[in-house]
Amino acid sequence: MFQSTALCGSKSEIYPALVATARGLLAGETDRIANAANFCALIFHALPDLNWAGFYFFDGVELVVGPFQGKPACVRIALGRGVCGTAAVSRRTLLVADVAAFPGHIPCDADSRSELVVPLLAGDRLIGVFDVDAPLLERFDGDDQVGLEALCRVFMQALYPQLAEFAAGESR
Ligand code: SME
Repeated sequence: MFQSTALCGSKSEIYPALVATARGLLAGETDRIANAANFCALIFHALPDLNWAGFYFFDGVELVVGPFQGKPACVRIALGRGVCGTAAVSRRTLLVADVAAFPGHIPCDADSRSELVVPLLAGDRLIGVFDVDAPLLERFDGDDQVGLEALCRVFMQALYPQLAEFAAGESR
């Protein structure tokens, strides 16, 4: 069984523990929906102060919502639109301290105040994005970015065990 309450400790302790837990949770499974569902449930319940955590997958044209935890969300996001579409096009993690200050932010959940979006790439191929929202301004910092990018690499490695190289955000 997996711990379902928020983890305690500093971020330097929480993220390595979460990475290890995610590895165990996804080990040996390559089904994208199954892994995405468990991955976002793990993160949503382990990290404090989140109101949404989940996936948008690229269908070849636009981003389509995948498994998530939180309130119902917008189903489709065009590339280049919102924080998710911008992260997908730029292929860089976007850390938004105040969503109201991000031009074109898409307010799926009115509670969201800050957001972090990690693009998911298999080689050069855009797979989608992983998105976390918080009801607090400036909820995410550089440690969260590094930690969530490491977690997204675990997700990608489980999904594409045949690929040697993965990108999830900038930090590798
Ligand atoms: N706020 C996102 C939309 C997705 S929701 O936050 C779940 C955006 O601007 O792309």
